Amino acid sequence: MSKIVVANWKMNGRLAGNRELTQAVLARLPENVLSVLCVPFPYLAQIAEILSTSKVQLGAQDVSAFSDGAYTGQVNAEMLAELGAAYVIVGHSERRALCGEADEDVADKAARALAAGLTPIVCVGESLEERDAGQVAEVVTRQLDALDGKVDIARIVIAYEPVWAIGTGRSATTEQVSEVLGLIRNWIGQRSAQSQRTPVLYGGSVKVDNASELFALADCDGGLIGGASLIADDFIAICAAAAATEHQ
Ligand code: PGA
Repeated sequence: MSKIVVANWKMNGRLAGNRELTQAVLARLPENVLSVLCVPFPYLAQIAEILSTSKVQLGAQDVSAFSDGAYTGQVNAEMLAELGAAYVIVGHSERRALCGEADEDVADKAARALAAGLTPIVCVGESLEERDAGQVAEVVTRQLDALDGKVDIARIVIAYEPVWAIGTGRSATTEQVSEVLGLIRNWIGQRSAQSQRTPVLYGGSVKVDNASELFALADCDGGLIGGASLIADDFIAICAAAAATEHQ
């Protein structure tokens, strides 16, 4: 199975720079990797048009838990699908922390995404305080358990993103990542036989110099890349690292 490398541009970009970055990525993207660009809502149509003749997929960074209606400022899954998105990040820790998203909200969003034919990339991960308190397994399992009964686990992507490693330049060690990816894989395995192939990604300060060792981990199906996805050379090198570890 090809590895998945997801770019999370977060709240960055302008029309001219977006075009330059996307075209630079398309020009040198390796084969054998599934890459997804998750861009801010206003730029979905622009990037959809640039990606239209490529295999690179388009994604959004959030979705409403509701369908059409009186939800000022929200964007629903049908709108994302209409604009050409195939993926959407849900439950990113920045949204959990800054927008007060609870585990149940994340599950509702993932369900809405699936109903509209999108693949939700569900983010889970512990804060530094929770890690220091020895609560990693408890927190990650609680976040995952919220999906039960609402979401078909066989049709989602899960991303382990320890909050303390996001945007800090401090990636989790391969041992720490390996342990939690194993826990997630185990949780998936207890759900259904079809979910065995549910991709599990790692995110949090993935860079050119640590991508290969992270992607080589047995349970790692790819990465969710923030800061480094805004630099074409870095994103391409990370995708190349993913392509090179495909058969390991
Ligand atoms: P980072 O962000 O790569 O900049 O740490 C990852 C993410 O937030 O998805």
